Amino acid sequence: MDQNGKVAKLLSLRKEALLGGGQTRIDKQHEAGKMTARERIDFLLDKDSFEEIGALVTHRSRDFGLDKISYPGDGVITGFGTIDGRPVYVFSQDFTVFGGSLSEAHAEKICKIMDLAMKNGVPIIGINDSGGARIQEGVASLGGYAEVFWRNSMASGVVPQISAIMGPCAGGAVYSPALTDFVFMVKNTSYMFVTGPNVVKTVTHENVTSEALGGASTHSTKSGVAHFSSDNDAQCLLDIRRLMNYLPLNCEEKATVRESAEPDPEKAKRLESIVPENPNKPYDMKDVVRGVVDADSFMEIHEHYADNIIVGLARLDGKSVGIVANQPLSLAGCLDISASIKGARFVRFCDCFNIPLLVFEDVPGFLPGTDQEWGGIIKHGAKLLYAFCEATVPKLTVITRKAYGGAYDVMNSKHIRADYNVAWPSAEIAVMGTKGAVEIIFRKEILTAEDPAARQSEFEKEYEQKFANPYIAAQRGYIDDVILPGETRTKLIKALHVIRNKVDSVPRKKHDNLPL
Ligand code: HXC
Repeated sequence: MDQNGKVAKLLSLRKEALLGGGQTRIDKQHEAGKMTARERIDFLLDKDSFEEIGALVTHRSRDFGLDKISYPGDGVITGFGTIDGRPVYVFSQDFTVFGGSLSEAHAEKICKIMDLAMKNGVPIIGINDSGGARIQEGVASLGGYAEVFWRNSMASGVVPQISAIMGPCAGGAVYSPALTDFVFMVKNTSYMFVTGPNVVKTVTHENVTSEALGGASTHSTKSGVAHFSSDNDAQCLLDIRRLMNYLPLNCEEKATVRESAEPDPEKAKRLESIVPENPNKPYDMKDVVRGVVDADSFMEIHEHYADNIIVGLARLDGKSVGIVANQPLSLAGCLDISASIKGARFVRFCDCFNIPLLVFEDVPGFLPGTDQEWGGIIKHGAKLLYAFCEATVPKLTVITRKAYGGAYDVMNSKHIRADYNVAWPSAEIAVMGTKGAVEIIFRKEILTAEDPAARQSEFEKEYEQKFANPYIAAQRGYIDDVILPGETRTKLIKALHVIRNKVDSVPRKKHDNLPL
């Protein structure tokens, strides 16, 4: 027995903290197919690496009977640990304690680790599973949310911020994840919405379930709010571990270099014949990416949203690179509003965290139509252009086929300060595609010709010979070289090696005025 039971008191408090809202509620959490907040942290972090901060914090409420109920930790577990030996700060909301709702004390705990993460240059991972503002605390809880939002904004671009949504996340609470760099959701057990199905029904008379309104599938396909959707908690946490591997700890550092791994020779060989003879025939740009980057290193982000552009992280000779690629399999690889926003956000993330950009380009232009024009493709397309222009990380571009019109300029062209631009012999770098161009510039000649079809075909051949190739751009130095597809990996590795320590800057300013 220890002196005066002091050790026993500590052990008893610890035991109480470990139990959260009690075994019955823990069982309920498991029955819903969810891990508890602590199980999630244990699964996410390296074994035995977690150190808790604030396990004994309790709320200070006196109203609505809360003076009689309190739980050590107050519904959120906070602390630090490691992923593959590298430090991270974590918070994990505990749905078994007041439904994971955010009280003033709960918010203070989150803010404390956010402050530490920023001061120490360490990423933050937030696991959200909460009924929102602690209703009994009123405005104190709203104030707590705003304190978190402010820190999310200040931490943006300083340390990577990752959000996992593993239960409810509703109302204003959604804006903390929305301010972070990546949002992970779990299918069928998580949802995010500003107003839930009941309010929607009252206001718009729509009948919609939580899952359809704001579930993982909805946000990873329709809205683009979620970057990843996982089948269950375990998969989600493993995906976060994987993502962390590509990232530096903060904006002053570079990501860890891993061992280089040659791509599968079959995949590399396929590059030679991957671009079809017929320029209107699609091919899968992901095969190009996988044939160039290190084996099994490509981690796609936003896989099911705006799939006419591909973004993701990969390794080239062991170094992290951010991939941005047009996808001819979807909308012929045209840039539209969603693709522009998706691409721009990713380019800016990579630039924040010193991750070189590698672009694979096959783009016939911006998507035409009233939907796009009225939706503001001009201002949204400008986001992608702006993001590439302002990025000062090493920037590489491979033109595999079409590089037409404004989209040629936008997609990391030499003119907006890309460092190494190459094209395959199949490249067509021109203002527009052959047929459209001929119909405009030779319209009169075709109309007045004896055999208009034959004349048009002659003009098309002439245009193709002159413009549907990479050589005029090469003559002007707009691309640095025309290379064989099979040479792509080696040449990119050499180029990246030389520019890896690039130092570039933008003019001094308070901050930019990114087109929003
Ligand atoms: C206090 C809460 C709570 C809350 C849930 N609980 N939400 N306590 N404040 N916001 C408690 C419940 O009383 C219950 O306690 C336990 O958590 C589990 O809740 P259940 O309702 O039994 O669980 P379930 O059926 O799974 O439903 C989960 C839920 C529902 C859908 C999240 O609880 C719910 O609708 N809660 C209210 C959501 C809400 O309107 N929040 C405010 C949103 S506005 P016991 O003791 O029975 O276990 C907001 C503003 C943020 O958040 C502003 C930021 C700017």
